[in-house]
Amino acid sequence: MIVHTIIVTSKIPPEYPHIPFKHVKITPEQSLTKSKEFLDFMGRRRSIRFFSDRPVEFEIIKNIVRTAGTAPSGAHQQPWTYVVVSDPELKKQIRIAAEKEEKFSYEERMTDEWLQALARLGTDWRKPFLETAPYLIIAFRQRYGINDDGSKRTHYYTSESMGISVGFLISAIHNSGLVTLTHTPSPMNFLRKILKRPENEAPFVLLPIGYPASDTTVPDLQRKALNNIMIHFS
Ligand SMILES: Cc1cc2nc3c(=O)[nH]c(=O)nc-3n(C[C@H](O)[C@H](O)[C@H](O)COP(=O)(O)O)c2cc1C
Repeated sequence: MIVHTIIVTSKIPPEYPHIPFKHVKITPEQSLTKSKEFLDFMGRRRSIRFFSDRPVEFEIIKNIVRTAGTAPSGAHQQPWTYVVVSDPELKKQIRIAAEKEEKFSYEERMTDEWLQALARLGTDWRKPFLETAPYLIIAFRQRYGINDDGSKRTHYYTSESMGISVGFLISAIHNSGLVTLTHTPSPMNFLRKILKRPENEAPFVLLPIGYPASDTTVPDLQRKALNNIMIHFS
């Protein structure tokens, strides 16, 4: 039985009229097939730590960032700035600053428990991919907005919004046949200084983007099964 739902639209304010939503209609069979295909496709995404210097067309990067910009955000405030770096000198500066923080983290800040959790990834403080990858994208979270008159505007749910948007970004990178790493060289404030970002922007994650090196390996990780990540009340 098909149930038609009528939406009561009385809450839509006349000064902000809504527009028709164009739903892409597919059959339930197509829906099932597409859900499986997308699962298989996304399941092949891996974090990559060895990059080739093979160039990437800038238009692809622009489309990837455009995709990140389609994410939902709290009150549609779109609290993100994506800074793209391909300038070798800037990449070098970022690598030097990141490795300085990472060296201190690995040698002083990280607890044994933390180091143990990272052991299987085979990482250390060295981050050559920050110079090898043709592009770095640094996602900045706008902690608050700035109005035209210079006053501050509260932004809502910025961390949740950023996480979703960066998820779109990573999916778009994967969909373009490229690879990336979600990198968080902590603390990351050096990125705000090097990239001259304003006070209201906080670095969220740093993502090198490009092609994997020809001999790339990845950790042999298992992902949790559905019954370990989903609870269904029916
Ligand atoms: C918020 C976040 C921060 C991460 N930071 C780092 C990092 O600084 N360095 C790194 O090598 N990997 C980092 N990773 C990547 C994870 O180690 C990786 O996603 C995880 O091991 C699973 O591997 P997969 O992405 O190949 O499925 C980070 C991932 C997330 C989500």
